[in-house]
Amino acid sequence: MKFFLDTANLAEIQEAAALGILDGVTTNPSLMAKEGIRGTDAVMAHYRAICELVAGGDVSAEVNATDFAGMVREGEALAELHEQIVVKVPMTKDGVRAIKYFSDKEIRTNCTLIFTAGQALLAAKAGASYVSPFVGRLDDIGGDGLGLVGQIVEIFANYGFPTEVLAASIRHVPHLVECAEIGADVVTCPLSVLNDLFQHPLTDKGLATFLADAQKVGS
Ligand code: G3P
Repeated sequence: MKFFLDTANLAEIQEAAALGILDGVTTNPSLMAKEGIRGTDAVMAHYRAICELVAGGDVSAEVNATDFAGMVREGEALAELHEQIVVKVPMTKDGVRAIKYFSDKEIRTNCTLIFTAGQALLAAKAGASYVSPFVGRLDDIGGDGLGLVGQIVEIFANYGFPTEVLAASIRHVPHLVECAEIGADVVTCPLSVLNDLFQHPLTDKGLATFLADAQKVGS
């Protein structure tokens, strides 16, 4: 299972990359805005910096256009920027057309804003490299985010689609662990969730005991 960080914050990416377990990064326009990035040149420079921090890892960079021609123009520029860039495209009719266009040109894509298995199927048929079901946002409206991930995993396995299931909008450790049980290929989460994965009170208590006993031994 791949771990991606869902952020555009360079310090957070650096912190996660230093652990040696980071496989990639996903960004979106909201996360870029949160970092105060303004203007095309700054956006491109920021994506390049992210790619360098996660050497070899995939970095999802989202198009802002909503029409096919605009998505193609933006996506091609993003793909040219760095070989690690995966063009993130929203789940719309123009988005699916753009994914098919990019797929034919061997430009990798991540279809975002997936809330149904049918949407995931459309993106896979168009040749998306990843689909991103939004687990937390579906739960927020009383839906079953993890159930959706399970449906998509099953459908892709039924037909041998190479599209990877990238579980997004992961809000806490149980989300992440259940995605692993279900068989999601990737989870993308905030740094806080990654850090929470380390935690258990018995780990802290056990370590404190070992340290105290080590002092007695004096080694
Ligand atoms: O990157 C998309 C997704 O992970 C957003 O998560 O927490 O804003 O619903 P969230």
